[in-house]
Amino acid sequence: MSATALLERTAPLYDRVRTLIPAIEWPVFADDIEAILRLKRERNAVILAHNYMTPEIFHCVADIVGDSLALAREAMKVDEQVIVLAGVHFMAETAKMLNPSKTVLIPDSRAGCSLAESITAADVRLMRQRHPGVPVVTYVNSSAAVKAESDICCTSGNALKVVESLGVERVIMLPDEYLAQNIAAQTKVKIIAWAGHCEVHERFTAAEVRALRADYPGVTILAHPECPPDVVAEADYTGSTADMSGYVGRERPARVVLLTECSMADNVSVGYPDIEFVRPCNLCPHMKRITLPGIRNALETMTEEVVIDPALMDRARLSVERMLAVR
Ligand code: 13P
Ligand code: SF4
Repeated sequence: MSATALLERTAPLYDRVRTLIPAIEWPVFADDIEAILRLKRERNAVILAHNYMTPEIFHCVADIVGDSLALAREAMKVDEQVIVLAGVHFMAETAKMLNPSKTVLIPDSRAGCSLAESITAADVRLMRQRHPGVPVVTYVNSSAAVKAESDICCTSGNALKVVESLGVERVIMLPDEYLAQNIAAQTKVKIIAWAGHCEVHERFTAAEVRALRADYPGVTILAHPECPPDVVAEADYTGSTADMSGYVGRERPARVVLLTECSMADNVSVGYPDIEFVRPCNLCPHMKRITLPGIRNALETMTEEVVIDPALMDRARLSVERMLAVR
């Protein structure tokens, strides 16, 4: 098969990412992309990709893209028998919980999350003992075992709604301390937090935000709620990755910075060539474990399959389903 023919066939896909990937680098991606598109058909597979996936994954092979909430909702609607979750492990676990009869593959099971690592099921039980009767709201960035010990899950896109839906005075909110503090600033519900942090978002500082405003006059600053509260206080808008993307589409700021993972601005920028995306950003090493060759290998070998103990999965699913019922 000639390299020129491959480049010709994949030219429409290259058009989607030409502002991000130099033409000289495209041949490195084209063969994997074509193979993945063929394997998806052969395996009856669908690729769900988080907003932090690199552009060649996000724009060229993914069928459904979104934030954690959208990926959970969409996972329930897919017809295909195989789901490849291009994201981190807790996202693949959530997809499996919502589709126990389907094969859910993650291209690299080492793709973890510092928040999910920060707490165990035993820790949740201890928190309950310390605060009897207080409901536990758990961020989806957590293991299935932790979800199983929780009352309800939340994402960055619905945390406030979930907390207020319970109609209680106090909640325990795990494991992201900053998300908990950022939600506490918006509600009368008293929030008891855990000291977990996202290793990507905790690195942004308020001083950095002020320097951005000085260096880039008129810049609009969007922050993910996993950022520290003083960063959120200095930002113009705070929301989940999908909310940030929605803000850019709605408000069309001339100059914008997304205080979040680096691929996010890359992926959003494709749709808005007139907007200047200022980049300080931080890379998530876990998300970056997911690559095109990894996705191709997952579909070729049908590994690594996400397996969760059925009893634990049933309990964890309840927490996710309660969250999905909150509108
Ligand atoms: P979102 O749900 O906002 O996409 O966030 C997921 C995540 O891991 C952010 O670091
Ligand atoms: Fe976890 Fe942070 Fe990476 Fe998101 S960006 S997966 S919260 S470590």
